Amino acid sequence: QTAPLIDPFARAISYLRVSVTDRCDFRCVYCMAENMTFLPKADLLTLEELDRMCTTFIRMGVEKLRITGGEPLVRKGIITFFHAMKRHLDSGALKELTLTTNGSQLAKYAGELADCGVRRINVSLDTLDPAKFAEITRWGRLPQVLDGIAAAKAAGLRVKINAVALKGFNEDEQFSITDWCAHNGHDLTWIEVMPMGDLGNENRLDQYWSLRDLRARYAERFTVTDLAERSGGPARYVRLEETGQKIGFITPLTHNFCESCNRVRLTCTGELYMCLGQEDMADLRSTLRASAADAPLESAIRAAISHKPKGHDFDYSRSGVSGQMTRHMSHTGG
Ligand code: GTP
Ligand code: 5AD
Ligand code: SF4
Repeated sequence: QTAPLIDPFARAISYLRVSVTDRCDFRCVYCMAENMTFLPKADLLTLEELDRMCTTFIRMGVEKLRITGGEPLVRKGIITFFHAMKRHLDSGALKELTLTTNGSQLAKYAGELADCGVRRINVSLDTLDPAKFAEITRWGRLPQVLDGIAAAKAAGLRVKINAVALKGFNEDEQFSITDWCAHNGHDLTWIEVMPMGDLGNENRLDQYWSLRDLRARYAERFTVTDLAERSGGPARYVRLEETGQKIGFITPLTHNFCESCNRVRLTCTGELYMCLGQEDMADLRSTLRASAADAPLESAIRAAISHKPKGHDFDYSRSGVSGQMTRHMSHTGG
């Protein structure tokens, strides 16, 4: 165990998000272009390299590991990697091993993930209408995802549904999605759409549905109480008093949560991004490949974190496109 990772704003870094692939079997319109060029396999960290990276971060104080993508479950051998990470849970160094997935492969892998010590997973689901689901993911099949979610529940995994709030797309489903989650015992978090990826002439502003508005709509039907608790992530929570249901809101745009940021992101090519909304990154892959010793990698990580910026610059309020990022969400894993 080394000294903890502390950034220039006195924030301790205890949460590493790792994108294990840039590939995905869906093409959500706000995430990827329809015809994506994916990275050559040789650019990706191997499973052994991913293990070495994660193990180093855990030695440096990371207690929560979230595996993302792209779609993490389309990476070949990924269960082997989860299984390897289980040793850090067993030793007590790692408190939580989890993933964010589109659910398409869950029917196949839910049981194995549970065996590897995964307890909670986040599943992206923006609509419960099969036709709209096919539209937003460009070709995804809703029943496949719903089966996956059911398999996860059956395997004893807690499921959090992530729904991106999209104007003119799922506004009419706010209450049906809420009820479906309550009925099935899933947590629900709404996410404000972020200006990332290939936009072409589009502006995400056209799709932007403020979570303030969502909250106000809940308040028309329920007594809405703000909760003080935080889960270690960016979500803030409210409770609908009449049903007791807890709803999360991730609001990078209307309510910035950077002051309590505890995370950094490793891409599938071994770049360490200090912030989702900034370009600043460190190439850890070359350090890792240059030496089998721990010390150079540890100092590269420490040096990178000493540059962690205060926060992101996403902003729809100025020109509408300021603070936009051309990087794809699938690159840094959201
Ligand atoms: P927990 O770790 O359980 O709190 O999950 P999470 O909600 O952080 O993770 P998830 O992968 O489900 O991410 C949900 C959404 O939150 C994604 O769209 C992420 O891009 C967004 N998000 C997560 N962390 C950050 C962050 O540090 N900054 C910004 N702007 N968005 C974030
Ligand atoms: N804005 C907000 N959320 C996004 N996601 C992907 N792209 C965007 C975006 N532009 C979400 C996915 C998934 C999570 C990892 O990131 O829906 O739930
Ligand atoms: Fe795939 Fe998730 Fe991006 Fe959709 S949001 S294309 S499911 S990585």
